[in-house]
Amino acid sequence: MAIYLDNAATSFPKPECVYRAIDHYMRTIGTNAGRGGYRRALAADQMVFETRLRLAQLFNIGDVSRIIFTTNATEAINLAIKGYVRTNDHIIASGLEHNACWRVLRTLEAAGTISLSVLPHRMDGTVDMARVADLFTSQTRLVVMSHVSNVTGGILPLQDIANLCRSRSVPLLVDSAQSAGLLPLDVEALGIALLAFTGHKGLLGPQGTGGLYMSDGMDLRPLKEGGTGSESLLEFQPESLPDRYEAGTPNVPGIIGLGAALEYIQNTGLDSIHAHKRSLTDYTHRQLLRVPGITVYGPQGSNERIGVVSFTMETASPEEVAARLDADYEIMVRAGLHCAPRAHRTIGTIQTGTVRVGLGHFTTEDDIDQLTKALMELAQN
Ligand SMILES: Cc1ncc(COP(=O)(O)O)c(C=O)c1O
Repeated sequence: MAIYLDNAATSFPKPECVYRAIDHYMRTIGTNAGRGGYRRALAADQMVFETRLRLAQLFNIGDVSRIIFTTNATEAINLAIKGYVRTNDHIIASGLEHNACWRVLRTLEAAGTISLSVLPHRMDGTVDMARVADLFTSQTRLVVMSHVSNVTGGILPLQDIANLCRSRSVPLLVDSAQSAGLLPLDVEALGIALLAFTGHKGLLGPQGTGGLYMSDGMDLRPLKEGGTGSESLLEFQPESLPDRYEAGTPNVPGIIGLGAALEYIQNTGLDSIHAHKRSLTDYTHRQLLRVPGITVYGPQGSNERIGVVSFTMETASPEEVAARLDADYEIMVRAGLHCAPRAHRTIGTIQTGTVRVGLGHFTTEDDIDQLTKALMELAQN
């Protein structure tokens, strides 16, 4: 049977309830949300609202209207950064950022709008906290950081960075694309100003879903203007939330599917999902290290990584390894730079990239045993 190990790109399969919820909505409800006053339209409204509510519970957000639905984390990050920055701002970002953040920041830097500093990392991607405070200047207006690296699976020091941001009154934007649904995330306790999430990875929902939480006091310029189903007489975007940032028909089936996925996560328990993923990550790491000629990247401590294990082999390029795994063993992994060249520069793999094993909620130790056996054979041939 084929083994899917590219869950860092998108999780598959989804819990059964996700397929059922989307099918039910598409066949028996099908109305737009936020636009009609008849009962069936209100039913769709209610389901969209329930997804917002479940997200608020997951991230401990007090005001649900401060959760903006977007099509993915990329759109959420674009809204957060472009909606916030002003000319001459200084921004600090981690050196492990995905292009979803990195390209936005580099484009603003190249245009002369912002100046950019990068957190000091060691070769395993961990942050040298002792050198972080020196990066702040009087112009620093935002810190941007992934919670978990999509290249190494390394967990970044969110609490420490959040404390530093709080003490300097600088807002923190967290990209939780690889951590939401895997690690607890309490925006109130951490004082996170902006949290971008995507619905289709650890949150187990469908593609085309995601969002941005903005804390009280964060006032962003909208990325787009248009119909909201509210205050239609206004010729400008309404001030009310979330409508101000949600112009256009939303992805109602996707949001309802995401709601079902969140219910599944709540019923299963984030703690148990987290424990399973942590032990599977550890198991994968240990098993892969048994393969001759393999280098595994990222932090080595079991408390410092989750969900992703990246490696290279002496005998073949990452592309060759991935192609052989697919063709000869029906094992699906990703090879290359994983949309995060800055992260590869940080860990020293910019020339080659890596093979990335993305562990999913439904991945088993047996899947990893089969991967290890295949890699052992590849290493011998
Ligand atoms: C760390 C990180 N940030 C952002 C993204 C972008 O997510 P999406 O493609 O859902 O916008 C990804 C996707 O791989 C990611 O791994």
